[in-house]
Amino acid sequence: MRKMYKYKVSILGTGFIGLCSAACFAQKDIKVLASTHNEKKAKMINEGKAPFYEVGLQEIMDDLKKNKPEMLTCITDPIKAVLETDISMITQGTPMREDKSIDLSFIESTAREIGEALKQKDTYHLVVVRSTVVPGTTRNLISKIITDISGKKPGENYGLCMQPEFLAEGRSIEDTLHPDRIIIGEFDEKSGSMLQEFYEYFYEDHLKNCPIVRMNLESAELVKYGNNCLLSTKISFANEFANLAQLVPNVDVVQVMKGVGLDYRINPRFLGAGVGFGGSCFHKDVNAIMAWAKSKGYHPRLLEAVLDINDDQAIKIVDIAEELAGKLAGKRVTLLGLSFKPGTDDMREAPSIRVVKELRKRNVSEIIGYDPVAKETARAVFGDKIQYANSVEEALKDSECAFLITEWDEFKALTPETFKKYMKTPNLIDGRRIFDYETFSRELPFRAIGRVDLK
Ligand code: UGA
Repeated sequence: MRKMYKYKVSILGTGFIGLCSAACFAQKDIKVLASTHNEKKAKMINEGKAPFYEVGLQEIMDDLKKNKPEMLTCITDPIKAVLETDISMITQGTPMREDKSIDLSFIESTAREIGEALKQKDTYHLVVVRSTVVPGTTRNLISKIITDISGKKPGENYGLCMQPEFLAEGRSIEDTLHPDRIIIGEFDEKSGSMLQEFYEYFYEDHLKNCPIVRMNLESAELVKYGNNCLLSTKISFANEFANLAQLVPNVDVVQVMKGVGLDYRINPRFLGAGVGFGGSCFHKDVNAIMAWAKSKGYHPRLLEAVLDINDDQAIKIVDIAEELAGKLAGKRVTLLGLSFKPGTDDMREAPSIRVVKELRKRNVSEIIGYDPVAKETARAVFGDKIQYANSVEEALKDSECAFLITEWDEFKALTPETFKKYMKTPNLIDGRRIFDYETFSRELPFRAIGRVDLK
């Protein structure tokens, strides 16, 4: 067995980023002290149980529990976690406030805790911000709080870095282990070099294909927003083209985006037109950077359009349904898929929420939803505004129009026969372009985002 790595790491916050990093570091013989204020969560982690579902995480936790239980410990005392380690990573969430700006309160309290700890610590300590924060936060808020409380100075008594994360839900472990680049924002050379050395140990050969890019703190903070804003922009661009494609017969947005994406300067990923993006990141981050820009007197027109186009897709899909099936008022309709993407039960900003809102506005009498995993999380959002089916068949039974909202594999296997067999009138709208267009439009009253054909 390899020796324990020379630096110990505390992870302050045990959400997706925090726990996935903690588990992966521990597996590579880095002693990790994770910290959370949630005792139940800490207990679960110490028992080797992942407190939420993420592909591959439980397997790593099982392996740690069995082979090196001493490498990952979770405590409820962040000050102790900082005092007993050399590097602290802040992995707290930065949710969206009511006014859509960024909520930094979790970050602020963690900074205070680090300050308390550093007051008692005489050796050099590296603080790394991994959470998504608007430019200026690491230097002007986090570091200022730490210094005010501890009396210690960045660049002298403690190091300071900002390293944005790029994990997508359902891929968090894969993205942690095989990133395509590592961005290190540094207060000074010494801080950046210490973090670089840490990742050289952790990633070893992977760094041959993964550049470490060093820059100042504020640029690193903005890189994260750059990525999420550009990915959101690509999706809204594809959706704008879906709307263009629908203006004339026989144009298919899927073929168009394939052609566009093959340009070596672009790439085909995130050009999938559909019912729009959801999730805990894109809306939150685009809104946060817009609010930040406005607070500085700049009006971000492109980003505003990105959100408008995205959220309008829910209205467009209901328009398409009414073109196909007539007015939906008083009818029974089905939603296949409720979570914001396949592979998760996460309902945050899910397109299904916007579609349900639109259907209710148009006086649909019964909405019945089916999702392979998100039934309970959906219930927490919709309550009795919709009904919940336990199978595709139950969801389609007697329905007059079905919407495909989330592209679960289970739905990809469906054939026109299933819709014809169970529905009262088998009108189907493909909001994710998963059904073979020719087959389905031959067999059923069928429409799909981004294509209208001459019959
Ligand atoms: C996103 C980014 O992909 C990550 O790189 C980033 O680290 C993360 O946010 C974050 O900031 O924490 P995530 O929200 O988990 O990850 O999910 P994505 O896989 O990016 O999907 C987001 C939404 O976009 C989904 O609703 C998906 O259906 C939609 N989407 C995606 C499309 O509508 N079309 C596409 O072509 C691709």
